[in-house]
Amino acid sequence: MEVVVTKSAGFCFGVKRAVEQVYEQVRQGKRVYTYGSIAHNEAVVKELEEQGVTVLESREELEKLTEGTVIIRAHGVAEEIYKLLEAKGLAYIDATCPFVKRIHRIVQEQSALGRQIIIIGNNGHPEVEGAKGWTKTPAVVIETPQQARDFTVKNGEKLCIVSQTTFNYKKFQDLVEIFQEKGYDIIVANTICNATENSQREARELAAQADVMIVIGGTHSSNTRKLYEICRSECESTYYIQTLEDLKLELPNSVELVGITAGASTPNKIIEEVQNYVRINF
Ligand code: F3S
Repeated sequence: MEVVVTKSAGFCFGVKRAVEQVYEQVRQGKRVYTYGSIAHNEAVVKELEEQGVTVLESREELEKLTEGTVIIRAHGVAEEIYKLLEAKGLAYIDATCPFVKRIHRIVQEQSALGRQIIIIGNNGHPEVEGAKGWTKTPAVVIETPQQARDFTVKNGEKLCIVSQTTFNYKKFQDLVEIFQEKGYDIIVANTICNATENSQREARELAAQADVMIVIGGTHSSNTRKLYEICRSECESTYYIQTLEDLKLELPNSVELVGITAGASTPNKIIEEVQNYVRINF
């Protein structure tokens, strides 16, 4: 029996960079706070908590903070959070993923030039909330074809469309098409991150060949859930687990290929544990 792990399984570049920055501050003996959990993975958050890292869950908690170093996670934050950190004189490290920073730059520039910003993404997702905080006039978040069809511009306004980095490329294209059919003046910036596209493509390809697929990631991680859906559509026997403890694997003798993939916030350690377990026990 063969066990194959997708190449891009686990931490994406942005999350890896953010987590490393947290550990670096811990190593330097700083009192570290992360603004929101650094990765959507309970095991990571727990391990960091054991090292004395505290997660700030809200703006109110940040307002009350008087000491320590705050880490802004890969998802990024609204401009007003930087202003708050500076007004309070708090030390901070900006671990916003450069791909998310690019979105902030685009929406800031284009809204300053008078374009209405449309963000294709999931309203309420921290990355989208952060991006909304860089526009001059309120951005509109569009998630479904119906919302795109219902949208109308006021007074011949021009539009600028960006995407949440983890949005599905095909759905993004479909939504953009709906806007284009309306004949508006639009600038479209495809800001979907390659890391997501690559990991989804690799997962799909592997799942199409595998007899059993194991998808590892936090239950709150939207990119892991998407990976699970993709794998499930190709391979009926797909497991969704957070850590090795969740795995209740039953493999009939006929199984020849077990595929493993993991969401962008899953640490390598967990992927290796699962991989070794399957290799040794079956
Ligand atoms: Fe950045 Fe892409 Fe990861 S935007 S945080 S590298 S999924």
